[in-house]
Amino acid sequence: MAALGVLDSANLNGGQKLAVKYFAVSVALFGAQVLFGLLAGLQYLNPEFLFGILDFSVNRMVHVNAMVVWLLFGFIGSVYWLLEDESGVPVVGLGFGNLIFWIFTLAVVVVVLVYLLVQVGPGEKSSIWLINEGREYIEAPRWADIGIVVCVLGFFYNVAATFMKGKITGIGGVLLFDLIALAGLYLAGMWFTPNISMDQHWWWWVIHLWVEATWEVLVGCLMAYGLIKTMGVRRKIVETWLYIEVALMFGSGILGLGHHYFWIGTPEYWFTIGGFFSALEPIPLVAMVVHALFDAGHHKLKSNNNPALGWIIGQAFGNFFGAGVWGFMHTLPQINLYTHGTQWTASHGHLAFFGAYVTMVIAFFYIAVQKWRGNVWMSGNLVGAWKWKWAMFLLWAGMITMTMALLIAGYEQSQIERAIGGSDWMAYFAAQAHRWFTQAMVWRQVGGWMFALGFVLLVWDLMTIGKRETRSTYVIEPEMAKAAV
Ligand code: HEM
Ligand code: HEM
Ligand SMILES: [Fe+2]
Repeated sequence: MAALGVLDSANLNGGQKLAVKYFAVSVALFGAQVLFGLLAGLQYLNPEFLFGILDFSVNRMVHVNAMVVWLLFGFIGSVYWLLEDESGVPVVGLGFGNLIFWIFTLAVVVVVLVYLLVQVGPGEKSSIWLINEGREYIEAPRWADIGIVVCVLGFFYNVAATFMKGKITGIGGVLLFDLIALAGLYLAGMWFTPNISMDQHWWWWVIHLWVEATWEVLVGCLMAYGLIKTMGVRRKIVETWLYIEVALMFGSGILGLGHHYFWIGTPEYWFTIGGFFSALEPIPLVAMVVHALFDAGHHKLKSNNNPALGWIIGQAFGNFFGAGVWGFMHTLPQINLYTHGTQWTASHGHLAFFGAYVTMVIAFFYIAVQKWRGNVWMSGNLVGAWKWKWAMFLLWAGMITMTMALLIAGYEQSQIERAIGGSDWMAYFAAQAHRWFTQAMVWRQVGGWMFALGFVLLVWDLMTIGKRETRSTYVIEPEMAKAAV
């Protein structure tokens, strides 16, 4: 084994070596997301900016697609990270897993290049197959869709076969069922129908049932594992919480789907179903906050990896506010009538994706880096700790600034465009020209720059944290080390 504090792949098991590859691509795409977000934001301030070269529609598409893909890469990496630990056996098809990783990565690069090179064109069958499917967040063309399904099936085979061969823990069992649902739902976004209402009906199955059901359960599993690793929390406790959260999450999230069926031409009973069940959705998120704080309090916030623990606790709060509170604000049809599709939605979308998912993936980056450097101590008195603290502060402060600015713009749109102007075309433009709106767009950009700075610092920190550290987790916290092996 190499010296402490040195990045050495000998410190990692097979699944973890594959995981860090996924993490590397994930970070790169995170960077792309931030870059294209900044460009799209600048176009709000100056609509001529890059017009005809890189249109807003393209920037926005690359921004949100990069987000979905980098989070998925982060999740796949995290699952490979914990797979051998949880199952107790080596990953069964590691070579196969590596092959899939390269195919997947190459496909993503090709898809993005095509987005950038072919920005306009006719909406024909061949466009759907080769260029862009036109479904927000999952615009990837049909050939890539099929490729993604094959890659995900291969990934699922690896995870399932490894758990079958070894042992299936509580976390492992929940993870397996969840991955079946997560992968299966993707198929709902692949049907072709010329009826836009039906198209949207199925598309929401992917979008809503991913972020408000299957992804939530996945991060529940990751949080459970993360708490065991960073604080040595007892498995029995985290798994009990996990079962409760999963039951609540599926109980409210599945029919909560109805909050996207208010205005797309689906039957009226969705007002009642969607309003009622989605209003219950914050409850499991409260359970997650209680869970994380209970464990952290019980262990007096003593951890072997402070940045990871910080991001995990941030996840509990970010998820609760971004998804729970910001989602609840506009989920009743009586309110959604006024807020639908305004910047209010974007405010919620940003805080929820960041709070619930970005935070957890970053926590796993830190868990990975720690072991990669030979299980170095990453807690109190860490050399250069200012970097992770400032990165965390800037990312959060940037995100909160953006969220608040967008909320104000959305509030103004609901008033001026919807309530006063009656939602007509003129009212739409009047709302866009209002001072509250234009100033909010400036503040969103300020938040965006803060966020981008935080991102740069995060990458720098991930590359250097623990480098000059000579203490091992094993020596300082033998109790925790037992759990961390
Ligand atoms: C982590 C979980 C969540 C994420 C990542 C998330 C993300 C998003 C995003 C990105 C949109 C915009 C979709 C579009 O492009 O049209 C959206 C819409 C919406 N979300 Fe969430 N959401 C989450 C949880 C929730 C929860 C728990 C609720 C309710 C309590 C909720 C209520 C809504 C509603 C009502 C809309 C429709 C907004 C409109 O009418 O324009 N969301 N969500
Ligand atoms: C530098 C930071 C960022 C900037 C400047 C930025 C800017 C933007 C802009 C201008 C849009 C288009 C909004 C519209 O159509 O009106 C957008 C959409 C979106 N961004 Fe960002 N963004 C940033 C970071 C992020 C991050 C970190 C996330 C989440 C992980 C995120 C998630 C989203 C989502 C989900 C949408 C679609 C929202 C919707 O349809 O309502 N963005 N962003
Ligand atoms: Fe939803």
